[in-house]
Amino acid sequence: MLSLHRLPGVPTAKQPLFPSTSTFTHPPRRPTCLFPQSKTLPKPPKFHKSPTALLQWNRKPQLSGETPRVVVVTSGKGGVGKTTTTANIGLSLARLDFSVVAIDADVGLRNLDLLLGLENRVNYTALEVLNGDCRLDQALVRDKRWSNFELLCISKPRSKLPLGFGGKALIWLVDALKSRTEGCPDFILIDCPAGIDAGFITAITPANEAILITTPDITALRDADRVTGLLECDGIRDIKMIVNRVRTDMIKGEDMMSVLDVQEMLGLPLLGAIPEDSEVIRSTNRGYPLVLNKPPTLAGLAFEQAAWRLVEQDTMQAVMVEEEPKRGFFSFFGWSIANLLSCVGGSGRGARRKLCTVQFWGTKAEARD
Ligand SMILES: Nc1ncnc2c1ncn2[C@@H]1O[C@H](COP(=O)(O)OP(=O)(O)OP(=O)(O)O)[C@@H](O)[C@H]1O
Ligand SMILES: [Mg+2]
Repeated sequence: MLSLHRLPGVPTAKQPLFPSTSTFTHPPRRPTCLFPQSKTLPKPPKFHKSPTALLQWNRKPQLSGETPRVVVVTSGKGGVGKTTTTANIGLSLARLDFSVVAIDADVGLRNLDLLLGLENRVNYTALEVLNGDCRLDQALVRDKRWSNFELLCISKPRSKLPLGFGGKALIWLVDALKSRTEGCPDFILIDCPAGIDAGFITAITPANEAILITTPDITALRDADRVTGLLECDGIRDIKMIVNRVRTDMIKGEDMMSVLDVQEMLGLPLLGAIPEDSEVIRSTNRGYPLVLNKPPTLAGLAFEQAAWRLVEQDTMQAVMVEEEPKRGFFSFFGWSIANLLSCVGGSGRGARRKLCTVQFWGTKAEARD
C-alpha cells in the first residue's frame, strides 16, 4: 500500500500500489496543445478516489493573477538547481498550453540553452536587441518541441555584465515582450545568476514574484534566507519555495532536514519538493528536459506538480507518496514487491525504477506510469 500525505500534515489517503485493473493509461498526447479548445480532458480511469481528488489532473489549471506573470527563479547559493527548475517548469507550463518566455539572465555563465538543447539555435542575444543590431523576435529562440516556449539569452557565453546593463534594461525587454504582435506571454521566467551582486539585482528588478530554490542543507538555507530578505526589500512579496535534491532515505535516517523543517526555517509557501534523481543529470547532459521524459521520472513528476501549483497559486496541495510498511502474503515470505517485479518483469533495475516512480513525491505517477 502507498500512503499519500498532503504537505504539511493533513489526513492520509490510501491507495493500492498495483490496482487490479490495468489503469496506467493516460489521455492521448497532442503535439502542440495539451488542452485545445475544451478545458476538460477525457477522465482518467478511477481506480482510486483520494489521489484524483487531490491532484485534479483531468483539467487545465486555471491561471491566476495578471499576465504576464514575471517570475524570477533564484537561490543565493549556486548549483542548487535554478536552471534545471527554469527549464522544467517552463516546459511543463508550455505543455499545459501557456505561452512562456524563459530569460537566461546568468550573464557570462549561461547554460539554460544547453539544458534545453537549443545552444546551436541562439544567434542573437538581448544585448544585441538593446544595441539595435537585431529585432527582439530574432533573439527569441523557439523550442524544438513546444512552439509556445521561447528562450531569450542576455549575452554570449563568457561575456561580462556590460556596463550600463541593469534592471532598467531588463524592464525594457519585459515591456517589449508584453507588447509583441504575437501577444503577451502568460509567463516570463527569469533564470537568475547565483549570488547577490549586480547580476542578481538586475534579474529580480522586473519580477513581481519569485521561486526560491534551496537544497535541504544549512548553507543553502542561510543563503535562501538572505535572498528572501533582499527580494522583500525589492518589493517582491510573492515568494514560493522549491526544495530540491530531497532524499527520503536520508530524512528517515535523520541525516537530512525534512521539507517541513525547511519550510519552518524559511517560513515560505512550498511550491514543490524535488527528489534527488540521477535522471536530472542524465537529462542535463542530453539537453532534453526531464519533464519530457517517457516514462516519467520522479523529479519530472515533481516539477510538473510544481508548475501546476504555480499556475493556480497553491490551491492544490503538495503531495508526498510513500510506501507503507509491507504486510500480507509477500511480506510473510520476506519479499518486497520490487523483488517480485525483478523476478517476473525483466531486469531488476527497471522493475525497481517502476516501483520508485510510484512511491516517491509523484503526483501523477499513479495515472501516467
Ligand atoms: N533533483 C536533482 N537531482 C539530481 N541532480 C540535480 C537535481 N537538481 C539539479 N541537479 C544537478 O545539479 C547541478 C546544478 O544544477 P543547475 O545548473 O540547475 O543549478 P543552478 O542553481 O542553476 O547553478 P548556477 O548557480 O551555477 O547557475 C546540475 O548538474 C544538475 O543536473
Ligand atoms: Mg544556473
